[in-house]
Amino acid sequence: MSCLAIEASLASYTFRWGVQVVRLSMAWPTPSLSLFHGPHEPEPTTTMTADKDPALDPSAMMMDKILSYCRSQGIGAVARLGLPDLLAESPRTAAELAAACGADPDYLQRMLRALSVEGIFEARGDGVFALNELSEVLTTGHPRSVRWLAASMCDHAHWQPWGKAFDALVEGKSQTPRVLGMSPWEYLSGNPEEAGRFGQAMSNMSRQAIAAITECYDFGSFSHVVDVGGNRGTLVLDLLGSHPNLRATIFDLPPVIEVAREALKGDPHGARVELVAGSFFEEVPAGADAYLLKHILHDWPDEDCLRILRAIRKAIPKHGKLLVFDALLVPEAPPWAYWLDVHMMILQDGKERTPDEFAELFGATGFELVRAQPTPSPIAILEARCV
Ligand SMILES: C[S@@+](CC[C@H](N)C(=O)[O-])C[C@H]1O[C@@H](n2cnc3c(N)ncnc32)[C@H](O)[C@@H]1O
Repeated sequence: MSCLAIEASLASYTFRWGVQVVRLSMAWPTPSLSLFHGPHEPEPTTTMTADKDPALDPSAMMMDKILSYCRSQGIGAVARLGLPDLLAESPRTAAELAAACGADPDYLQRMLRALSVEGIFEARGDGVFALNELSEVLTTGHPRSVRWLAASMCDHAHWQPWGKAFDALVEGKSQTPRVLGMSPWEYLSGNPEEAGRFGQAMSNMSRQAIAAITECYDFGSFSHVVDVGGNRGTLVLDLLGSHPNLRATIFDLPPVIEVAREALKGDPHGARVELVAGSFFEEVPAGADAYLLKHILHDWPDEDCLRILRAIRKAIPKHGKLLVFDALLVPEAPPWAYWLDVHMMILQDGKERTPDEFAELFGATGFELVRAQPTPSPIAILEARCV
């Protein structure tokens, strides 16, 4: 580590969040410091002056990106604590919030301060924090809420594999079996509380996309759909609401189906839903005229997707449609689609795919891709027919 002297001069400027801060102008190195550098260490040459915006300095920009995971965990923690719901009732100080949700007031104040500087909450005078348009989507009741998505993405099963991203990169293999000792699905089966947050997260993602999906695809010709790996079936339950003659089967692993059974109690469309437990690697319920795979294929590497698709091909009648809802890697895809791809890779060797990659999977399992349609939501629709 080099020993640096920093010449600091002070100037005042307005930062992008409107906070008045003091600008530190740093120039290094001073020639006299060469004594302190190791024999092979190059002298630092970067000079940051008062005329340059420090926010645009590549090193500072990189540091900001390096700290991104602190942001994720910060958002996840306050979402799990339910702070946005409390702030929806009224703006409050960190101490008031801490008392209401059982957190440490000092730690909470510093977390909320950082999130406010980030633009995620509004820091008002006198230590009071408030929701803004961005953090409103972290409230439970928001129609496009991502509260549980934020909490679940920071939970053990999602977080631990990222701690081994280096090893995954070197070995070309997800480290989840090493860090969890099992697959994420086995882990969630034994951890109902975390599985509950994950199920809610999936419902959040469904609600984000439902309006776009139903606008872009006409489900009117179907009388029976199977939601394969449907979890709580948020998508099909919505479809049942708008299609009174439709019935649905939700198919998932046994512990998930038990939770879905509870969640369905009291649902106005529950009478038109059948719940079936099993594994989509073995067989899926037969005879429906549409099979939905939402956020399923991206969980798995190609060889497992082929097994899932073959099981569906055995069960689907010749006139049936296969509908896949996943992100689509097209040139205009936003950066998060590529991060979701990497997330799936780290989690369980899964991947987001291009239209050609989907076509290849379908072609190898007795289907033909007839439509690949991005929607205004984070989900695209891929329709395939039997050949
Ligand atoms: C990423 S979630 C998607 C859930 C749902 N389709 C949605 O979009 O909200 C993946 C689902 O696949 C289910 N799953 C995992 N392995 C399975 C298997 N072998 N058979 C059936 N379902 C499985 C999980 O329980 C989970 O509900």
